[in-house]
Amino acid sequence: MMENKQYIDVLNKIGKILEDADDLLNKSKDLNELDIRFKVFAGKKGQLTEILRKIHSYAEEEKRIIGSKSNEIKKKIEEIYKNRRNELADIKQKKDINTCRVDLTIPGNYIEKPHKHPITAVLEDVVDFFSYMGFEVVSGPEIETAHYNFDALNIPADHPARDMWDTFYLLNGLIPRTHTSSVQARIMEEKSPPFRVIAPGRCYRYEAVDATHLFMFNQMEGLFVDKHVRLTDLKGILEEAVRYLLGAKKIRFRPAFYPFVEPGLDLDIRCIFCGGKGCSVCKDTGWIEVIPCGMVHPNVFKYAGIDPSEYRGFAFGMGFDRIVMLKYNINDLRLLYQGNLDVLNQF
Ligand code: PHE
Repeated sequence: MMENKQYIDVLNKIGKILEDADDLLNKSKDLNELDIRFKVFAGKKGQLTEILRKIHSYAEEEKRIIGSKSNEIKKKIEEIYKNRRNELADIKQKKDINTCRVDLTIPGNYIEKPHKHPITAVLEDVVDFFSYMGFEVVSGPEIETAHYNFDALNIPADHPARDMWDTFYLLNGLIPRTHTSSVQARIMEEKSPPFRVIAPGRCYRYEAVDATHLFMFNQMEGLFVDKHVRLTDLKGILEEAVRYLLGAKKIRFRPAFYPFVEPGLDLDIRCIFCGGKGCSVCKDTGWIEVIPCGMVHPNVFKYAGIDPSEYRGFAFGMGFDRIVMLKYNINDLRLLYQGNLDVLNQF
C-alpha cells in the first residue's frame, strides 16, 4: 500500500513537472531565462532526472511505466522549449530591427566639416579668373634641369643674374625649380603659338626661413603668346586679376629687371590694409608688390624656336602665398604650411 502511494505520487509529480514546465517555459522573457528554466525541469540535474535516479526502489512494472512516462514528458518539455525558443528569437530580432529604426537617442559620430586649405581656395579663384580670360592650365616638373630653369630663360651659367635665385643644387646636377618660369620655356617648345597658359606649382629656394620667406612656396606662371600681344594687354589683364582676387582698386607698374622679359615690370597694388597711408604690411610705402611681369624677351623666343619678329608675348609670375597672406590678412607665411588645425579652422 505504502509502495503504491509512492508510485502514484511519483506519477502525479511527473504530470506536475509537465504542467509547471509548460507554464514557466512559456512565460520566460528571454533566451537566458528559458535555458535556465529548461534545465530545472529536464536538464542533467533537473527534476525528471532526479525521479529516474530513484527508480530502482519501484517494482518492475512500475519502473517501466515511470520510465516511459518520464521519457514522454521529457520529449514534450523539449518540444515546448524549442517552440518558445523560436518565439523568443523572433521577438529579439524584431526588437533589434525596431531599435535601429527608432532609437534616435544613440549618440552619433561627430564629423568635422571639411573645408579647403586657403592656398587651394586661392588657387581655385586664380584658375577661375584666368580660365575665364582664355588661359589653359599646364604643369611642368618640380625637379628641373638648369637648362629650363635658367639657360632657356636667357640666364646663362656665367651671368650674374643667376644670383637672383638662391638655388638648391641636387647631387645629380638637377635643381628643384626656383620659379615656375621653367614651365614657360618648356611650353614654348611644346606648343606652337598662339597660346595662353597658366602654370601653378611649387618652387624651392635656398632661403633662411622667416615670417615672409620659405624654402618652398607656391607660384603661378602666366604666358600669353600671339602675333599682336602688347604691353597694354598685360596691364589690362593683370589689373583686372588683382581687382578680382584682392579687391585692389589702385595699382601701379614699376620698371624691374628679369632676364627673360624686356621690358620687365612689377605690379604694385595700393595697400589694402591702410589705403596707402602707410602701415607695417606695406612697410610704410603705401604699396604692396604682387606680380612681377614683362614682355617675353626675344632671346627666350629664339631658344624655343619661335620667331620673335612674328610673335610677341607677355609673362608673369604670381606668388601665391603672397596673395593668400593679403587676402586673409596673415602675417606669417609659416602658418600656412604647419598643418595646425587651430589655425586652419579659422579660414
Ligand atoms: N620668375 C620670376 C621670379 O620668380 C618672376 C617673373 C615671372 C618675372 C615672369 C617676370 C615674368 O622671380
